[in-house]
Amino acid sequence: MTKKKSILSTDPYKGVRDFYPEEMYIEQYLFDTMRDVVEHFGYEEYSTSLLEPTELYDAKTSQEIVNEQTYTFVDRGQRRVTLRPEMTPSVARLVAAKQRELSFPLRWYTIANVFRYERPQKGRLREHWQLNCDLFGIASIEADVEVIFLAYELMRAFGARDSEFEIRINQRSVIPETLSLLAREHGLTLPKEKQAELLRLMDKRDKFKPRVYAEEMRTLLGEKLSNVVLTHYTPATIRKLITETKAGNELVTLLEILERRGITNIIHDPYLVRGFDYYTGMIFEVFDTSKENNRSLFGGGRYDNLLELFNKDPIPTVGFGMGDVTLRDFLDTHNLLPEYSSATDLYIAVMNPSVFDFSAQLAQRLRRHDLTIAVDYSGKKIGDQVKTATKKNVPFLLVVGDDEQDTGIYKLKHLPTKKEYIVPESQIAEVLFQTLE
Ligand code: HAM
Repeated sequence: MTKKKSILSTDPYKGVRDFYPEEMYIEQYLFDTMRDVVEHFGYEEYSTSLLEPTELYDAKTSQEIVNEQTYTFVDRGQRRVTLRPEMTPSVARLVAAKQRELSFPLRWYTIANVFRYERPQKGRLREHWQLNCDLFGIASIEADVEVIFLAYELMRAFGARDSEFEIRINQRSVIPETLSLLAREHGLTLPKEKQAELLRLMDKRDKFKPRVYAEEMRTLLGEKLSNVVLTHYTPATIRKLITETKAGNELVTLLEILERRGITNIIHDPYLVRGFDYYTGMIFEVFDTSKENNRSLFGGGRYDNLLELFNKDPIPTVGFGMGDVTLRDFLDTHNLLPEYSSATDLYIAVMNPSVFDFSAQLAQRLRRHDLTIAVDYSGKKIGDQVKTATKKNVPFLLVVGDDEQDTGIYKLKHLPTKKEYIVPESQIAEVLFQTLE
């Protein structure tokens, strides 16, 4: 009996992406722009492995991510290993390992591939790239201001106008502090041990139907207290109560400084929680304001205690993670994606194999002028080689045959305009530079 050959699928693994050159072009544009902006703010690049020991995520991150969303396996040496779902625990590990040698403040960034086992949907995949910027060692509000300003400048660098996005800010402890005041007004108290769970529940507010959310709240806080939360915890009451709390006053100052520095598309969102347990203070999220893509684009916040995981002195830190999937969707929605252009400046079409050597050497001499050049050794008809160059969007074409080899004179063609230049080799680079500038 002959065994039936199984056909291997060309699809990628569920929820991850392949990048063909046109898509990679966009991805590279995102990374180049990110790098350019953050390096102008003095951030330095670091990198870590995709693999981390699972214990790193067991404590202090997000229960949802740890229990339901990590790719975890046991290796051949019986160690539990996790594909990193985010960068924050890894960067905390790096800083903790060299805490004594490093000179603070540290401004660090990375552009890293991270993995989460989520249900793939628009804006959520099982793999994405994340720009992470973190500022270690500044406890004052100036660090929060810088990091939010950096997030704002990134959006501007991608061409976004202020009206197209909004920065929502909150202070983690404003929620329990204002709720405690509200509870007291109604003769109740908010138990300390319920606060972490309450924040987790509030974080899911948009994911639940209102009825389910109310039921969950009732189960957690009981009838009377949940009624206070559901009825009285509103933006209007919080606005009145906020200055009666320490965290609230800090938040108001932060908003004032940011406005003074020119950011006006910023608001206090009293329902903003963010999913990680490690945040200790200010948190923020950048939102797309368009109707078609009204969603969170990226976010972060202050986490002052994460180094305690490693039994080290705490270091005040603030940072954020900006994902490429949501950013691409934003740029697409607002028509801000760049048009593809080839990285190759010149395509050399070759008449016949007898001039292969000559063509290769010509290309090599021209590359020394910092030109990018591809030579077509396919042996196809010249017409087909020209079609290939056009399809690949290469701007310049040059054909090499016996005549060119003999005379050293070339017909250089600019494909988009069909303009031709009859030039010796010594002028090829000049024409290209003038046109491609
Ligand atoms: P996060 O909000 O979980 O925060 O992720 C940051 C960003 O990564 C999101 O806002 C989104 O742009 C993108 N992202 C997250 N999950 C997915 C997904 N499944 N598919 C596509 N994009 C996704 C953090 O990870 C924090 N560690 C960020 C941070 C750095 N906080 C302080 N420093």
